[in-house]
Amino acid sequence: MKSVHWFLFIFLLFFAPIASPMVQAFTGTYGINYGRIADNIPSPDEVVTLLRAAKIRNVRIYDADHSVLKAFSGTGLELVVGLPNDYVKEMSVNASHAMTWVKENVQAFLPKTSICGIAVGNEVLGGSDYELWGALLGAIKNVYNALKKLHLADVVQITTAHSQAVFANSYPPSSCVFRDNVVQYMKPLLEFFSQIGSPFCLNAYPFLAYMSDPENIDVNYALFQKTQGIYDPKTDLHYDNMLDAQIDAVYAALEDAGYKKMEVIVTETGWASHGDDNEAAATADNARTYNYNLRKRLAKKKGTPLRPKIVVKAYIFAVFNEDLKPGATSERNYGLFKADGSISYDIGFHGLKSSSADSLHLSMKAVQDQALPSSCFLTLTISAVASLLFLRQ
Ligand SMILES: *[C@@H]1O[C@H](CO)[C@@H](O)[C@H](O)[C@H]1NC(C)=O
Repeated sequence: MKSVHWFLFIFLLFFAPIASPMVQAFTGTYGINYGRIADNIPSPDEVVTLLRAAKIRNVRIYDADHSVLKAFSGTGLELVVGLPNDYVKEMSVNASHAMTWVKENVQAFLPKTSICGIAVGNEVLGGSDYELWGALLGAIKNVYNALKKLHLADVVQITTAHSQAVFANSYPPSSCVFRDNVVQYMKPLLEFFSQIGSPFCLNAYPFLAYMSDPENIDVNYALFQKTQGIYDPKTDLHYDNMLDAQIDAVYAALEDAGYKKMEVIVTETGWASHGDDNEAAATADNARTYNYNLRKRLAKKKGTPLRPKIVVKAYIFAVFNEDLKPGATSERNYGLFKADGSISYDIGFHGLKSSSADSLHLSMKAVQDQALPSSCFLTLTISAVASLLFLRQ
């Protein structure tokens, strides 16, 4: 070996493990979902401006819209794209469709658009379409195999997000298990994800849990406010907020299923600022309190009572209020920002244009300091160096 080879060898020995072997799609702790079921929200370019000003680097979208992928090019924002539920069946039956989808919606935009992950389907298990339950793992495998063939499996992480509907008991957290009818689909999925190093993705809404039982749940517990919290006698652990308890409930279910080491990531959480008459908790005041405290909670970079060493990471739902979303009024009012780009309430971010609430800007310098080096990029660079090295030998 020439000395330059030795140098590279030693470089790789020490630095490769930082970026590999498992790809990590979520590098910070505070990300956001950029939902776009609206006809009145700012353009993708303006959204880039908004997110950069807020120093939010980790972003999820629910499709792979090319205007968004182009706008995110060269910005350093790290994007998880979505393969919508409507495509899951065809991706599971035909591997060549999965390959085409990955080529056109992911490979074509790399590396300038930093696509770090693909979420295949959203809240499929536990949902109402049983055929989709059976198709999910096949689709995931076909998309993963396509990434592998394109040498992108170390750059782009595959996941799928679950709602709380996949769980049976979740109170106290240690009693949580997967629902009987979900287990036969969930276990093979967990097995595959444990092989490829993907986390368990949870959409967690203390807002919904609180609204389902306001008589027995202290709203302060759901809002990260001062409260006596709950005690879990089996683990002897105390919880002072509901989100931590919801995450630990998932860890308990994973352990029960035999996957104690799998990481849990929150892919959606949020609180609606406006709702119908029967959604009394959906107020701007509660939404501000939840999102302000959540931001502080995530900035601490701390784990949960059951998994103190695994830092909690969450993508907030969502950037904007989305006027075309069906369902209850709350569904259209989860945005940190209104459709005109002004803030919905003040948690320390600035809108595209200022509003009265914006002038009350709070200083949250510590939580804004979340910029991290791009892991996608590091992995790409190291892969490139590695292939050069092996080619030359
Ligand atoms: C998969 O799709 C390709 C391209 O559309 C088509 O040529 C092929 O026949 C399909 N295979 C199956 C098994 O349906």
